Amino acid sequence: MLMDAIIKPAREAGLELVRKEVPKIEFGEALVKIHYTAICGTDVHIYDWNDWAQKTINPPMTIGHEFVGEIVEIKGFSDSFKVGDIVSAEGHVVCGKCRNCRAGRRHLCPNTSGIGVNRDGIFAEYARIPISNLWLCDTEAIPEKLYSIFDPLGNATHTALKFGMVGEDVLITGAGPIGIMAAAICKHVGAKNVVLTDISDYRLELARQVCPDVITVNTKERRLRDVQREISMVEGFDVGLEMSGSPVAFNEMLDNMIMGGKIAMLGVQGNDTKIDWNKVIFNMITIQGIYGREVFETWHKMTSMLKSGLDISKIVTAEIDYRDFERGFEMMHSGKSGKVIMKWSD
Ligand SMILES: NC(=O)c1ccc[n+]([C@@H]2O[C@H](COP(=O)([O-])OP(=O)(O)OC[C@H]3O[C@@H](n4cnc5c(N)ncnc54)[C@H](O)[C@@H]3O)[C@@H](O)[C@H]2O)c1
Ligand SMILES: [Zn+2]
Ligand SMILES: [Zn+2]
Repeated sequence: MLMDAIIKPAREAGLELVRKEVPKIEFGEALVKIHYTAICGTDVHIYDWNDWAQKTINPPMTIGHEFVGEIVEIKGFSDSFKVGDIVSAEGHVVCGKCRNCRAGRRHLCPNTSGIGVNRDGIFAEYARIPISNLWLCDTEAIPEKLYSIFDPLGNATHTALKFGMVGEDVLITGAGPIGIMAAAICKHVGAKNVVLTDISDYRLELARQVCPDVITVNTKERRLRDVQREISMVEGFDVGLEMSGSPVAFNEMLDNMIMGGKIAMLGVQGNDTKIDWNKVIFNMITIQGIYGREVFETWHKMTSMLKSGLDISKIVTAEIDYRDFERGFEMMHSGKSGKVIMKWSD
C-alpha cells in the first residue's frame, strides 16, 4: 500500500512530497496513522541543508518527529497500548542496553537515534514507532492537536524545571516557541519575575499573547540592568534559561545573574562562543546543559501542568494541510510564526 510522505530526497536544500510504501512494523513496534504534525527548527535545518544536516542526515528519508496520531496495528507484548489509542511519542529511540538506559536515565543514552533525523520520521500518513517510545494521549482533558507539540513543550518543561522556580527571578533569553512556552511554565509553577528577551518584536508580542504575565524585553532597545531596576530587582536573576543559541544573549545572561545563580542551557551554541569564564568562577555560577526530555518524567510533568491550568495553546500560529508544507516552511523561515501544525487526516 502506498502513502504520502514528505522526504529529503537528496543531499541538497529542499523537501519533496512523494508516494512511498507504508512502513512494515516489526515486533515491538506500532503503526501509527498520523493526524497532526508540527514543524520543528530541526526540520528547517534539514530543509536548508545546513552544516549540521549535511553531517547528520542520510537521504532519501522521511523527516519530522513532532506528531499525534492513532495506533492502527501493533506487534508485541503491551498491555498499555492497543489499536485505536491516540498517541504521541518520544522522538529519541534509545538502546536499552547501556548503563544509563538500564538505570532508567534514557535521556542520557549515548546510542540515541532520532526519529526523522537518524531514522525515518513522521511527516507521512503512517509511521512505525517503537512501543517503548509511545505516549498515551488523554484527549478528553487535553485537545488532541496540542499533543503534536509535546516534543518542544517537553524541551521547555525539562529546562524550566531543572532548577527550583518558586519565588525566583528568572531570565529567559530567546522568545522562540520554546522560550515562550518556558516562560508560561515558570509563571505556572510559581516564579516571581519572569523576564523574556528577544531581538524580534513579533516574537515578544507573541510571548505576551501566550503569557500575559511575562516581562518582555527587546535587548536591542533596553538594557537588562535598567529592566532589573524598574522591577525592583537588586542582586540579579536567580535562574537563567538560555533558549536563543545566541552568544550575545548568553553573555548578557552571565552579566545579569545573582552570585550563585543557576543557568540551564538548551539553545545550541556555535563552537566559537566566547564567555568570560571568570564571571562563572568568581560568581559561582552553575551551568547545566539540557538535551531533549527526561523519558518519561518530563512527559508526565507537562501532561499534569496542562491538566492543572497551564495554557500554551496560542503558541500555535498556523494550521495547514500537509500538501501545503512549502508554505509552512516559508512561515518558519520568516521568523514570524510560533508553532506551525500540519493536518494529515480528517
Ligand atoms: N538541547 C536540545 O535538546 C534542544 C532541543 C530543541 C531546541 N534546541 C535549541 O533551543 C533553541 C530554541 O528553540 P526554538 O525552536 O524556540 O528556536 P527559535 O530559533 O525559534 O528561537 C530562538 C529565538 O532567539 C532569538 N534571538 C536571537 N538572538 C538573540 C539575542 N541576542 N537575544 C535574545 N534573543 C535572541 C531569535 O530572534 C528567536 O526568536 C534553539 O537554539 C534550538 O536549536 C535545543
Ligand atoms: Zn522538535
Ligand atoms: Zn542506551
